[in-house]
Amino acid sequence: MTIIIRKAMETDAPALSRICLLTADAGSTAEALHDYGELPGLVYAVPYVKLPTTWGYVMVDDLRDNEVVGYIVGSTDTRAFETYAAEHWWPKLAERYLPSLAKKPADERYMNLFRNMYTAPDACIDFSPAHMHINILPEYQKQGWGRKMLASAVEFLKGQSLRGVWLGLDPRNNGAKTFYERVGFTHVDGAPDNNMGIKF
Ligand SMILES: CC(C)(COP(=O)(O)OP(=O)(O)OC[C@H]1O[C@@H](n2cnc3c(N)ncnc32)[C@H](O)[C@@H]1OP(=O)(O)O)[C@@H](O)C(=O)NCCC(=O)NCCS
Repeated sequence: MTIIIRKAMETDAPALSRICLLTADAGSTAEALHDYGELPGLVYAVPYVKLPTTWGYVMVDDLRDNEVVGYIVGSTDTRAFETYAAEHWWPKLAERYLPSLAKKPADERYMNLFRNMYTAPDACIDFSPAHMHINILPEYQKQGWGRKMLASAVEFLKGQSLRGVWLGLDPRNNGAKTFYERVGFTHVDGAPDNNMGIKF
């Protein structure tokens, strides 16, 4: 097996969406929670290969015909990302996904979110303009790939003159919290408990 880490491309969107769904319930699969399995990816993965200010890396497995099996994505300028998405991304989704269509609570939550998207806490923006998400398929977890993909992201962000990156964590996701602590993330001062960041 040879795993290669490369820059994410817009054509990776379907793979990112699938990986997002398979890890969206606090690190476990959210397939059973959704009739509309694309919803988590439309928030946490796909915009990052389509909208301005975004960056991303994926890991691909040559034994699976170079299938994308994990990703790290983010924005170098979270406020600009939020502004652009508020104008060009969430409204289209709000139009396409009417909450009255939802039969499952998780679908309804996302459909309402498209209508009322949250923004990052100021304390996070003060920490760094850059935020990120990382998700790896279960069979590739705990083999050092998360650490390696984070290193690729940090190199890229340093090249953009950024000195830190932060994220929002599902408080139920203890495994991810341990991962972030192991690789050097700490709580972002002044932000809600579930925001962690790393300086470099
Ligand atoms: C969280 C995640 C990105 C970590 O990536 P990974 O490739 O599994 O992590 P690595 O193998 O690089 O591990 C790095 C360190 O974190 C530790 N670690 C990773 N996952 C862990 C877990 N679930 N529980 C405890 N420790 C963990 C490893 O033991 C390792 O420690 P060490 O190097 O000091 O011995 C990956 O497991 C994942 O995608 N999980 C599902 C999706 C998710 O929860 N994403 C985060 C959403 S905020």
